[in-house]
Amino acid sequence: MATGKVDALLGIVFGDEGKGKVVDYFTPQYDVVARFAGGPNAGHTIIFDGKKFVLRSIPSGIFDEGKLNIIGNGCVIAPDLFMLEAKEVESAGYQLTDRLHISRRAHLILPTHRVLDRAYEAAKGKAKVGTTGKGIGPTYSDKAARIGLRVGDVLNDFDAKYAALKARHEQILKDLHFTDYGITEEEKVWMEGVEYMKKFHLVDTEHEINRYLKEGKKVLAEGAQGSLLDIDHGTYPFVSSSSTTSGGVCTGLGVAPNTIGRIFGIFKAYSTRVGSGPFPVELFDETGAEIRRIGKEFGAVTGRDRRCGWIDLVALKYAIMINGVTDLVMMKSDVLDGFDTIKVCVAYEKDGETVTEMPYDTEGWNPVYEELPGWKTPLSDLRNESEFPAAFKSYIDYLEKALETPISIVSVSPDRDATIVR
Ligand code: GDP
Ligand code: IMO
Ligand code: MG
Repeated sequence: MATGKVDALLGIVFGDEGKGKVVDYFTPQYDVVARFAGGPNAGHTIIFDGKKFVLRSIPSGIFDEGKLNIIGNGCVIAPDLFMLEAKEVESAGYQLTDRLHISRRAHLILPTHRVLDRAYEAAKGKAKVGTTGKGIGPTYSDKAARIGLRVGDVLNDFDAKYAALKARHEQILKDLHFTDYGITEEEKVWMEGVEYMKKFHLVDTEHEINRYLKEGKKVLAEGAQGSLLDIDHGTYPFVSSSSTTSGGVCTGLGVAPNTIGRIFGIFKAYSTRVGSGPFPVELFDETGAEIRRIGKEFGAVTGRDRRCGWIDLVALKYAIMINGVTDLVMMKSDVLDGFDTIKVCVAYEKDGETVTEMPYDTEGWNPVYEELPGWKTPLSDLRNESEFPAAFKSYIDYLEKALETPISIVSVSPDRDATIVR
């Protein structure tokens, strides 16, 4: 019987909620940190001691040198990007090869998966997903089609397997008349990445994690993307291709549902989305631009502008339900410091109909707002709840009541230290 628990920290909106910062902050309380889904489409920012890192495939527990980090079976990994990322962390003085284990069941993103990502997007015309271009969709498609290559394959007759899948991709690209691409250089670095990856422990991480749990150790599952980008529960088809919600923790790590402990749902004090797809609370006015400017809402992976709006309780309630969130974590509260009033979307309205439950398709729905007073006080230097201005306390109380879930952590600046536990 397992006695340890797996807690999860999940983005519960459209990603970029600040998962990296909070996983890094939480790591001292855990023995293992594991990513269970996604790949280098993620960009998790961690800032401490004047240093900044943006992690893509490596879990955000890596800066605590005593801790094991795992890239689980639910993830997809690009050997070339992994190599570049790992070398950057190594060059900052962190030893990785003994503390970063990679599941042999994780799937490999080939250079041709990235070309396919571009080709499928190009073929979509106006209905583009606005992917990160990292080959995520095509790689998970091959996994589901049972033709993908896995990390374990690099140890056994790899060249032939690689050539066969690449040929299959090239045929599809030809059929799509998408032939104006070159991957020769990219492929060279990718193959170097495959060799580099072999220096790491390529193991059956599900056995490893369950052994730790049996010993009573604590595991933190680090989410990537956000619940509304989940392949089943997100705003399909404008989603990523993995299970980003709490069910994905079990399948993406090989841990049983009864090992799951607390589920932290992380969100911002306002809303953002990057890429296409419905976004009822999106602001096209000066307020939206102001939130983007103050919140520095530009993608960590692609540099794209993030679309901005007020907080959306319809979406948050849905995500809390799907994930079984036990604790909420509110980030970037400081970004709203200067606003006279703060709006909260409490329902959606369309053609005279009002709903408070997330509809099947959120396209065309308009937000119904309630308005609360702003706090008009800088929050960034505060480190204790007792110092919070009254209007900010009221905002927290209002959200906790509406969402029927405690906000256990509040973040007031990007730095590791600016994390207030309530
Ligand atoms: P992730 O993908 O969920 O890990 O989030 P990202 O790293 O993509 O985006 C979050 C951004 O917000 C990063 O630039 C963080 O440095 C920054 N950030 C995190 N917490 C706070 C906060 O409380 N206040 C402010 N102003 N920025 C924050
Ligand atoms: P983190 O972990 C925000 C979005 C893309 C696009 C859609 C599909 O940093 O929160 P994909 O490349 O996955 O096929 O793109 O999902 N997207 C993210 N948006 N944060 C992320 O990750 C994202 N990962 C994917 O912009 O709309
Ligand atoms: Mg991000």
